[in-house]
Amino acid sequence: MTKTHTLTPEQLQANWMPFTCNRQYKADPRLVVGADRMHFTLSDGRQLLDGIAGLWCCNAGHNRPRIVEAIQKQVATLDYSPAFQMGHPLQFELAERLANMVPGDLNKVFFTNSGSESCETALKMAIAYHNARGEGNRTKLIGREKGYHGVNFGGLSVGGMSANRKMFGNLLNGVDHMRHTHGIEANLFSKGIPEHGVELAEDLVRLCELHDPSTIAAVIVEPLAGSAGVLLPPKGYLERLRQICDQHGILLIFDEVITGFGRMGAPFATEYFGIEPDIICTAKGLANGVIPMGAVIVQDKIYDAFMHGPKDMVEFFHGYTFSGNPMACAAAMGTLDTYEEEGLLTRGAELSDYWQDAAHSLADLSLVKDIRNIGLIAGIELHPTPATPSKRVFTAFLKAYEAGLLIRTTGDTIALSPPLIIEKSQIDFAFSTLREIIKSLD
Ligand SMILES: Cc1ncc(COP(=O)(O)O)c(C=O)c1O
Repeated sequence: MTKTHTLTPEQLQANWMPFTCNRQYKADPRLVVGADRMHFTLSDGRQLLDGIAGLWCCNAGHNRPRIVEAIQKQVATLDYSPAFQMGHPLQFELAERLANMVPGDLNKVFFTNSGSESCETALKMAIAYHNARGEGNRTKLIGREKGYHGVNFGGLSVGGMSANRKMFGNLLNGVDHMRHTHGIEANLFSKGIPEHGVELAEDLVRLCELHDPSTIAAVIVEPLAGSAGVLLPPKGYLERLRQICDQHGILLIFDEVITGFGRMGAPFATEYFGIEPDIICTAKGLANGVIPMGAVIVQDKIYDAFMHGPKDMVEFFHGYTFSGNPMACAAAMGTLDTYEEEGLLTRGAELSDYWQDAAHSLADLSLVKDIRNIGLIAGIELHPTPATPSKRVFTAFLKAYEAGLLIRTTGDTIALSPPLIIEKSQIDFAFSTLREIIKSLD
């Protein structure tokens, strides 16, 4: 189809695009001009099925009335309120609502503007928490290979995606990584949580022995690693991490930036696995990707540890100009209303069998190396072309775009994580389109 771009090649030059092949893109741009429910509208008028909820964030789909109305009303009432030493009602209401959505003692909420900021905030909180309790020697942070915790220096340091790290020097001191859980032969083509690999959690014991556990502030993991290619935790693995952390007084941080807000078929992975971390990082689906927003949800004990000293002193020297800003809070309230009214936070569970069957229907294709799935998430790993890893899936991305389907690729894996409003006919379209594309790559 002939494209009618609305921008000239010169007009594309000033914008340095994030995580993008800038030269490839600018030679053949993919311009989005509208979105409604499950579809984007492209500049040439074509419709693109959103197979990845924007970037794992538009969980309620696009152009949802509750969210649009909430933002419109808010901007005409209170557009901004200073974040420090001042507050507005909506941020307290939203914090309370979020605290009520997660189990146990996770009752205090600190607002940020992104997943990266949530991770940064959580790591700083962990170190400062131990310091406030008189354990200032607990400063080390443990992440995991292939982990993704955003792009700021703390998150990058505990993260383990080597392509993201290698341009940036030594990163933070006092950080170590557990082994990843990817590539276990016996788990190939598992459906849901894989059986094998619980012993990988013992890697944390090894790091405790190496560093002395009394120097470790926190362990941070994604319950399910999305950005590195849909890597699921082996059965019993997260439970074992929780046990080891408890044994040594180490905080456990779940980075739920992707898994939060219904992606796994439960409101949070915390609930899905029945494990209570000390801190949860959220962002993305919190405000449906409409306005940047994140939130760090912590156990009472963490907040309480800071509430000492003179009452007119700041307790935690951290925060953002836009922490809990009224526009983002309004978007989040509209989002949570939509999730609640439409039962979206558990819709993934209702559709997961259908989704799983559709994903695994690709298993017979010779280029498919593995398929992983849970809730409304699927990862389809392809055999790489030996000389040019990840090239094949990038070609799949371009072909899917031409065929009217937006997918995400990472390494040699195609990831799908559609809005939670997806219909069965759209699931059929996504996987039948992918079947033809993967066949064409052989
Ligand atoms: C688990 C996880 N943590 C953190 C982030 C970073 O979020 P953001 O891009 O909003 O900074 C992401 C983004 O994909 C993520 O998947």
